[in-house]
Amino acid sequence: LAAPITITRETFRACRPGSWAGIPSDCCPPKVIDGPIVDFRPKYDASKPLRVRKALQCLSGHELQTYLRKLEKGYVLMRALPDSDPRSFKRQNAIHCAYGTGSFLQDGSTNLTIDVHLNWLFLPWHRMFVYFHERILQKLLGDPEFSLHFWNFDNSVTATPRHGSRGCYKAGHFVPPMYNDPSKATFEANRSVRAFDPNRAVDYAYNFNPLLGPPAWPNNTVEEQTRMNREVMHRSMITLANTTNFIGKTYRVGDAQILIPAVGAGTIELVPHNTLHAWIGGWMLQPITAPIDPLFYPFHANMERLWSVWRKLGYGNDDPTDPDWLNATFLFWDENSVMRRVRVRDFLDLNALGYRYEKVNDASWIFFD
Ligand code: C2O
Repeated sequence: LAAPITITRETFRACRPGSWAGIPSDCCPPKVIDGPIVDFRPKYDASKPLRVRKALQCLSGHELQTYLRKLEKGYVLMRALPDSDPRSFKRQNAIHCAYGTGSFLQDGSTNLTIDVHLNWLFLPWHRMFVYFHERILQKLLGDPEFSLHFWNFDNSVTATPRHGSRGCYKAGHFVPPMYNDPSKATFEANRSVRAFDPNRAVDYAYNFNPLLGPPAWPNNTVEEQTRMNREVMHRSMITLANTTNFIGKTYRVGDAQILIPAVGAGTIELVPHNTLHAWIGGWMLQPITAPIDPLFYPFHANMERLWSVWRKLGYGNDDPTDPDWLNATFLFWDENSVMRRVRVRDFLDLNALGYRYEKVNDASWIFFD
């Protein structure tokens, strides 16, 4: 009988090397998993102001410098943790890798594996992953108010003055240049060099098939490209995005994961999420390594922000009510290296989780025609 995907201590213990598109992975956590597993239950605390995850492209001056200094320090500290520490940068990548390359079995009775991509687990699981990443950074920095920012990649407005005077460096259609400073811990040499070309807008339709390899680079002007991107966003967020198509295909115990064709993916997971992973290239090309690139986190923050935006668009958009989605359960190590049992139903309300997103202008793709 169908049941929600549920990860237990036994699931972790039974972890075995997996693969993605024929590439072998070996990212299992250490077999000795002791210590308690503590249920994670968010509590909305009305007395505390919500932390705000802000748009990267609108940061400037002192605010930008302060943020970059913290982020830099956080990653230096995280990279310095030993591999034995589940909060280490390496182990965080490994957990995404294990959940993304079929390293865990659904239960003892079948050989079916678990994957958090290309199905309805994608949005909630990645929100959890980024959430615990942020908590670990807060802890390492000794700053419980620290918040990740988001790469507002869907924003094609070239200059959005915020609070009157402050402008934004460029549209979100450019990869955030602050992540491209080779002297910083947020840099990755292993990226496609063209991805950071300041004269080239990202291409949402850069369709990468793991079996065929990367397509040719487009030669569009910024104006042509941003127009095409707005059309893609409009389609993924509105035209094609009824609840089932947006969240992704049902996926319960007993269901097999299908990688190609990626029929189970929700609209924004497929495009622009998968296509932007391909655009950035390097570690971001595949789930075995993607979170090694610090750009992964502001990128995924925007992915889950778009989920919230979608819910508010109207058109009857709402989260699924299927208990096999709501009760899907995963394990994550928190900022104190305690293993937490986390359910999808607890990750639907950002305010209960203590944060919100800075308001930005989404009009460029909403009103596309
Ligand atoms: Cu698990 Cu952007 O992917």
